[in-house]
Amino acid sequence: MDGLLLLKKLYDASIPLVMFDPQYRGLFDQLKYGNEGKKLRERFQLPQMPDTVIASFLKEIDRVLIPSGHVMMWVDKFMLINSIHSLVTGTSLKVVDFITWDKGRIGLGYRTRKKSEYLVIFQKLPVRIKGIWKAHDIPDIWTEKLVKKNHTHAKPVQLLKKLIEAVTNIGDTIVDPAAGGYSTLTSASEVKRNFLGCDILPNLNGM
Ligand SMILES: C[S@@+](CC[C@H](N)C(=O)[O-])C[C@H]1O[C@@H](n2cnc3c(N)ncnc32)[C@H](O)[C@@H]1O
Repeated sequence: MDGLLLLKKLYDASIPLVMFDPQYRGLFDQLKYGNEGKKLRERFQLPQMPDTVIASFLKEIDRVLIPSGHVMMWVDKFMLINSIHSLVTGTSLKVVDFITWDKGRIGLGYRTRKKSEYLVIFQKLPVRIKGIWKAHDIPDIWTEKLVKKNHTHAKPVQLLKKLIEAVTNIGDTIVDPAAGGYSTLTSASEVKRNFLGCDILPNLNGM
């Protein structure tokens, strides 16, 4: 289902953590790639989210988060530089941290080759750390090579587990409204959290 509809079904101030990995095409627009190549064709087949749609997701996420709850959003370098603050204008979400994921392999690129992705960590007001952020061993550059990839944009499960444990408790519910290959579900269940999530496309891996 559409992740925005899922979010609209959730109560106000009910969720401590949302993982959000929007399907943006900024990198490819910036690099002016065509649709050539199997990998690029796979990416373009996924439904894209323009900035206006990403901003409406963030508005709903802001509503469903508990006070001082977190949304952790995956972005590429162009989104980071161009639009990160405008996407949360009018919400009570503030950027509080930032992690670089070193994927441990060289990917696509035009001038430089893509080796990393970025995770922007927003906290809903009031910004607080004491008693809320419980981990002190997460480096801001995280290297994790994906062994098994069940989605073209799969994310690092070990990092996700650490982050989930940092800001939630056993039994809490984590939401991912654009779940892709369900890396968040895998991570949440491994650390005994509940999961609510969906993707607009059917999942071909049976999750
Ligand atoms: C970057 S991928 C997510 C990858 C995921 N984090 C993982 O680890 O596999 C983004 C996903 O958003 C989905 N998507 C696009 N528009 C959506 C919408 N309106 N609602 C829900 N999912 C959507 C796409 O189908 C795609 O699978």
